[in-house]
Amino acid sequence: MATLSVEKLYEKHYAGEKARRGFFDALAAWRQPNRVLYPGSFIQVTASLVFPSVVYVDNDRNAKRFFSKMDDVVSFVTRHKVYREKPEMVFHGSSYEAHIPEPDGSFDLLISLYAGFISKPCKRYLKLGGILAVNNSHGDASLVSIDPDYELIGVIQGRGDRLRVVEEKLDAYFKPKKQTVVTEELLRKANRGIGYTKTAPAYLFKRAR
Ligand SMILES: C[S@@+](CC[C@H](N)C(=O)[O-])C[C@H]1O[C@@H](n2cnc3c(N)ncnc32)[C@H](O)[C@@H]1O
Repeated sequence: MATLSVEKLYEKHYAGEKARRGFFDALAAWRQPNRVLYPGSFIQVTASLVFPSVVYVDNDRNAKRFFSKMDDVVSFVTRHKVYREKPEMVFHGSSYEAHIPEPDGSFDLLISLYAGFISKPCKRYLKLGGILAVNNSHGDASLVSIDPDYELIGVIQGRGDRLRVVEEKLDAYFKPKKQTVVTEELLRKANRGIGYTKTAPAYLFKRAR
C-alpha cells in the first residue's frame, strides 16, 4: 500500500461504482451539511468530493498511512471536488468506539456504511436534528430502527449510481419478514441486518433527542 500514490490507492479501492458517488450525490442534492463525520471510512474520501468539511475516523493501519499524506489527499480532493470552498479534511486514526476528539453535537451529518455499529457510540457527536445516513450491511440500520433517539425521515432509493432521496411512505420499511423481536443483542450476535419486507440501499434518520 505504501508505494502507491493517494490517487492510485483511492482508484484501487474505489473505482467506478465502488466509490458510491451516487449515494453521496443524492445526499448532497438533498441537504448541504456544514460538518460531516464519517467513522469507519477507510480511505473513502468520496464524501469530500461533495461535502466541504469532513472528519474521517478509522483505526486501520492502511487508512492511517493513506491519511498521513494529508497534503496529497487534499490535493487529490481539490482536483475532483464539486464545490467552491477549500476542502477541510481531518482524520482520527482511532476507534470510533473510543473518544473522538470532536465536540459533542457538532456534526450535521453522520455516515455509517459497512463499518459496524456506529450509530450508538457516535450519536453524541451529531447535533439534535442532524442526519444519520446508514446502510444495513452490518446491521446498523436495524439497530437505529429500534433506537428511540432516532427518527426515520427518508431513504435512499434507486440502483447503482442512480440514487435519490425519498421521503414518503416510510411506514413500509423495517417490517421484519419473519416474526422477530429485534433487539440489540440479537443484532450484535448476527453482525448483519435482519430481513425486511421492503429495503433500501440506505436510510436517513434524524437525531430526535
Ligand atoms: C468494509 S470497510 C468500509 C469502509 C467504508 N465505510 C466504505 O463504505 O467503503 C470497514 C472499515 O471500518 C473500519 N472500522 C471497523 N471498526 C472500527 C472501529 N471500531 N473504529 C474505527 N474504524 C473501524 C475498518 O478499519 C475498515 O476500514
